[in-house]
Parts: sequence; C-alpha cells; structure tokens
Amino acid sequence: MIKKVGIVGLGQMGSGITQVAAQAGFALLATDAGEEIISRGIKNITKQLDKAIEKGKLDPAGKEKILGDIKTTTELHDFADCDLVIEAITENMTAKKEIFSELDKICKPETILASNTSSLPIGDLASVTKRRDRFVGLHFFNPVPVMKLVEVVKTLDTSDETYSAAFEFAKAVGKSPVRAKDTPGFIVNVLLIPYLLDAIRQYENGLASREDIDNGMMLGCGHPMGPLTLTDFIGLDTTLYIADVFFEEFKDSHYAAPPLLRRMVNAGYLGKKSGRGFYEYIK
Ligand code: CAA
Repeated sequence: MIKKVGIVGLGQMGSGITQVAAQAGFALLATDAGEEIISRGIKNITKQLDKAIEKGKLDPAGKEKILGDIKTTTELHDFADCDLVIEAITENMTAKKEIFSELDKICKPETILASNTSSLPIGDLASVTKRRDRFVGLHFFNPVPVMKLVEVVKTLDTSDETYSAAFEFAKAVGKSPVRAKDTPGFIVNVLLIPYLLDAIRQYENGLASREDIDNGMMLGCGHPMGPLTLTDFIGLDTTLYIADVFFEEFKDSHYAAPPLLRRMVNAGYLGKKSGRGFYEYIK
C-alpha cells in the first residue's frame, strides 16, 4: 500500500509530480541538490495552488493542507521509510544510477523505485539495484498538473505486483495510465520526437515561417501548440538529448537531430526556460 512518496528532483517535472501526489492525499518527501533549488520548487507549487484558489478550484485551507503534506530534506537518508520513490532529475544516466544505487541501500526492502526518465532504459537504471523486481518507469508529461497521461513502464524484471501498484498510483493521482514496454521513447516520445525533428528540419529548409508552421499544425490538426512552440516548451536541449538517444539506438536518419537544433543548443537557446528558442520569451 503506497502512502508515503519520495520525489528526488524538484524541477519542472518533480515539482509537478509532488503537487499532484500531495493534492491526491499522499504524504510527500522531496529533495533536490540544495536548499535553493528545493525552495524554488516549493515556490512553483505554491504559485500553482494560488492560481487554483484564484479560479475557485481550491480554498486557502486546502492549500495549507497540501503544502503541509509536503516535507523536504537535503538528505537522501530520510527516504528510508517511503513506499515509493520517484526520481525526476535531469536526463543523465550516471547521475540517475548514483541516486538509485544510494536509494537501494537506504530504502526499506518493500520500497518501489521509479524513474520519470523520458528516454533512458528503465532496465539499465534498475540494474544498479538489488530490487529489479521493485523497479518501474513512471513517465509523466509536462505540465504535470494538466496532462492526463502517465506511461507506466515494465522492464523484463518488474514484478506484476510492483507494476500494478505503480499503475494504481498513477490512477490515484488523477492520471490516465497506459502500459508501455521498456523500449526507447516508450509510446509517446518515439512518435512525438521525430515529428518535432521534421518540423525543425522543414523550418531550416525554408518551408515556411515559424509562425506559419505552428499555426498550420494548430489550426489544421487541432494541436494545442505548434511543433516549434512545443519544442521551446519541452526544451531544445531535452529534445536534442532524446533525439541523440534514439539515433544511437536505432541508427536511423529519421531520428537524426537537424543541424539547426544542435547549433541552437550549443548557442544556449534552450527554449522557454532560457528565454530564447525558436521564439523569444520574457523571463
Ligand atoms: N502548470 C500547471 N498548470 C498549467 C500550466 C503549468 N505549467 N500551464 C497551463 N496550465 C493550466 C492553466 O492554469 C489552465 O488551467 P484551467 O483550465 O484550470 O484554467 C490550463 O492549463 C490551460 O492553460 P492556458 O489557458 O493558460 O493555456 P493553454 O490553453 O494554451 O494551455 C497547455 C496550455 C496546457 C500547456 C497547452 O498549450 C498544451 O496542452 N500544450 C501541449 C503540451 C504538451 O504537448 N505536453 C507534452 C510535452 S512532451 C512531454 O512532456 C514528454 C517528454 O518526455 C518530453
């Protein structure tokens, strides 16, 4: 029975997962690398809860209850009694493996470990632990409080018990989970990323202006965001990282990053988070 949930990483994804899990009534313990990043994450959650109050979807007492259910720490050792720990740090295999290796030693035997990775093999992360059967992928989408999907990823070793506990957890936080295999990009990114790469390639080749490419897909296909805006939103660095993982895996030009994307990332144009991507953003 999952009651206490640990979150490692309080960036955009981790703070979103913390928020939805606390809103669903779970006890949360969250950490990141240092007090400053932790308080930024909590500030983001508070901002989202304040917006919900403004819209009449939450009352001030509800906000205090949710924030009261979120504890933070700078010590991984405090995660010992969590029933589920979800890692949501940046996409870096070595850093993730270090965290899981530590968590495996610290957490009680029943604790389920999960990663929110969008592109790294879950089985590779599980391999550094002695609990491969209690290891699963829980891939949320950005912005977490809005997007209904969670891909629940089963490795070759994930037990049925672990998988169904993770699946039920995704439902309990108000999401609609889908069953995904431990293949690169799971279901969504293996379809989405080539589409974004094609849009960048076409833009680079002069097919149309950035606005017309985006409006074409929004107004012609009913997408909430055009592909260049969506790449800015996901992060150009994240998109490039995922494309490189796919290309390495499939060796198929379909997944090759367009030169423009790599040039922009090298120049520090990371999208919305850096203030500039295909569009400019006021920070
Ligand atoms: N956090 C929380 N809530 C947010 C939010 C955020 N960052 N951004 C918007 N919202 C909420 C708003 O508060 C609003 O809520 P209400 O309906 O309760 O009023 C609602 O979302 C709609 O927002 P807006 O009216 O401001 O703007 P919008 O209608 O343009 O919607 C959007 C914004 C939800 C982001 C929408 O444009 C959208 O769905 N875009 C596509 C996002 C997408 O494709 N995400 C997946 C990315 S891929 C990924 O995450 C996987 C990966 O591994 C890379």
